[in-house]
Amino acid sequence: MRVAAIDQGTTSTRVLVADTDGAIEIACAITHQQIHPHPGWVEHDPEELLSNIRACLQAAGVVDAIGIDNQGESCLAWDARTGEALSPVIVWQDNRTADVIERLKASGAEALTLARAGLPLDAYFSASKLAWIINTLPAAKAALDAGHLRLGTTDAFFLDRLTGTFATDVTTASRTSLMDLETGQWDEELCQLFGVPMSCLPKILPTVADYGRVDGVPITAAVVDQQAALFGHGCRKPGDAKITFGTGAFALTVTGDKIARAPNKGLLPTVAWSIDGQMTYAVDGGVYDAGSAIEWARRIGLVSDLTADLDWFDGAPAIERGVVFVPALSGLACPHWDRTAASLFLGMSAATTRADLCQALLEGIALSAADVVGAMDAHVAIGRSIAIDGGLARSRYFAQFLADMIGRDVLATSFDERTAFGTASLAALGAGFALPEPETVSRTFSPRGGDNGKIRARFSEAVSRAKGWRD
Ligand code: G3P
Repeated sequence: MRVAAIDQGTTSTRVLVADTDGAIEIACAITHQQIHPHPGWVEHDPEELLSNIRACLQAAGVVDAIGIDNQGESCLAWDARTGEALSPVIVWQDNRTADVIERLKASGAEALTLARAGLPLDAYFSASKLAWIINTLPAAKAALDAGHLRLGTTDAFFLDRLTGTFATDVTTASRTSLMDLETGQWDEELCQLFGVPMSCLPKILPTVADYGRVDGVPITAAVVDQQAALFGHGCRKPGDAKITFGTGAFALTVTGDKIARAPNKGLLPTVAWSIDGQMTYAVDGGVYDAGSAIEWARRIGLVSDLTADLDWFDGAPAIERGVVFVPALSGLACPHWDRTAASLFLGMSAATTRADLCQALLEGIALSAADVVGAMDAHVAIGRSIAIDGGLARSRYFAQFLADMIGRDVLATSFDERTAFGTASLAALGAGFALPEPETVSRTFSPRGGDNGKIRARFSEAVSRAKGWRD
């Protein structure tokens, strides 16, 4: 039996093909345009994403089941009659609704979003983006008035166009700020608060469910990419945790059947998956800029060779020598939630080298992730080790520094496609079979001891200077 898992992420669309004999490969990977019409705005072209998904499915060949994962909060509007997109995809990083969010905060509305969706008010989540679409784009408003508007996260658009099923899964719905985390259903008051008509939203299905067929092949699972990676790492029981270093860095810890509300820690309770009528929750903490900070450093010429420039540094940490980087190109997420924060390098002298800045870049990302783990540690019990994946997991310096900062083992494996593998495993479950664990070489980075308190405190000081910099 063979399964194709589409991983539709922020920077690329890829397909992993896996079978029950253990064969596993990425059959196709396609990057797409990142559109920045204004500072702070990030868009994707819905038709480009869809055609990349179709190309990936084609490259996958004959399979028995399909799974699809998505970027989470990224969302759009389309026409119910034709399927035509009526807006661009407004990407999770997009900050265009920051002023609306500030107004809602000032009105005291955060109490409701925290109580029902479990989420703070932030432009990150889909709700304010969907409201922006209907309030700003005439085509969407006209379709709403005429009764044929559809609103949703990207998964709902893809599924509608690929199979004619207008649905989203409960993990993705839990990222909109429109769903009641306990019932797994849209919440009328949240929809009213943001001004998103509930009648335009897709039905919410379990993660493993019948999502219709593409050329006769069933789509048996749909899920957010971060939750897919959690599943793909084999995290199943409370305390199992992973951090994926993609565009951003996202730490998730399984909390079982418990919703771990943590308003004062800035963590996000979220649905991990819903399988066979059983809802499993996780707690999530995200850093907006990880790979995106590396990509920025590459674009401006600071990093030229990803492996040579970032794999290892012999000297003491740059931060110990006073050079600090705070990754906040899109502001700060967990645990700070400050969109007005800006990135900074601090502490350079005439002796500072390009290598020092590269080292500080890696350390800043690791320290941001360590702050998230610190917030989680104070709230839920996390196991002795944390699994990591994504581009940065390949840097030995990064993995070791992270282990030193979080004070627990960091587990990196040579098989890095945890997101797509998680999606493939969920799709296989839906089709009634199981995939074997891929062959992999594991590397454990253990904390080297020593006092990380001074480094963590210096980083906190730098973060406090980064806050509130932008209007
Ligand atoms: O919350 C956004 C996150 O799910 C995006 O992940 O891998 O597409 O950068 P990724």
